[in-house]
Amino acid sequence: MSVDKSVIFLLGGPGCGKGTQAALVTKNHKVGYASAGDILRAEAANPDSPHGKEIQAIMAAGKLVPPELIVSSIKHAIETSEYKYFLMDGFPRTLLQDDAYRQVMPPATAVVILDAPDEVLIQRISIRGLTSGRVDDTADCVPKRLEGYRRDTQPVLERYAAEGKVITVDSNKPVESVQADFVGRLRAFWPDM
Ligand code: AP5
Repeated sequence: MSVDKSVIFLLGGPGCGKGTQAALVTKNHKVGYASAGDILRAEAANPDSPHGKEIQAIMAAGKLVPPELIVSSIKHAIETSEYKYFLMDGFPRTLLQDDAYRQVMPPATAVVILDAPDEVLIQRISIRGLTSGRVDDTADCVPKRLEGYRRDTQPVLERYAAEGKVITVDSNKPVESVQADFVGRLRAFWPDM
């Protein structure tokens, strides 16, 4: 990977607004983007993928796919981006994924967490679930996703916090207001984005 590339991980509980905020950033700024969830959904929907059915079943159960099914796709997305700045949404969600990433990529610049209370996340996903068609936007699955986030992803956040790389943005506000805060924090690293 080119030495001047900078990757910021975007994390937060299900429904915190990662996709919404990243879409606005990439529309208005020179920033590359990939979502681990989108990569996996595309794989699950691909009838020629050797892992499609397995990934679909794991996602429908609200669980995480193993690192080997995701790290190479993420590396590829970052390395083939035309931009020097890259927002990686929904990764790394476990210490194992982070370990695997660190073995093949330079250290990430920072981790941004979009933070909102669980009841807000549940409400947003139940509204989206009326139309999204996502196998995991169900009343059964959302608590499992939240629990998994606390159990698996919290240790990753603690690791990055110990390295002084975590930035928390309050996402329990209107989309535009979250965006203003988010872009302000990104500009500290990416002044010419
Ligand atoms: P993923 O696709 O990453 O889903 P998620 O983290 O659960 O997050 P969502 O996509 O549900 O929400 P979001 O934070 O992007 O919020 P959004 O902008 O959509 O992962 C899904 C699954 O894939 C995982 O459970 C796992 O199985 C698998 N997976 C993914 N990454 C993996 C990895 N690294 N390793 C292994 N497995 C992995 O917003 C949500 C809703 O809220 C929208 O309707 C939006 O309009 C609304 N909204 C957003 N912001 C606001 C606001 N400020 N005010 C009001 N409403 C808002």
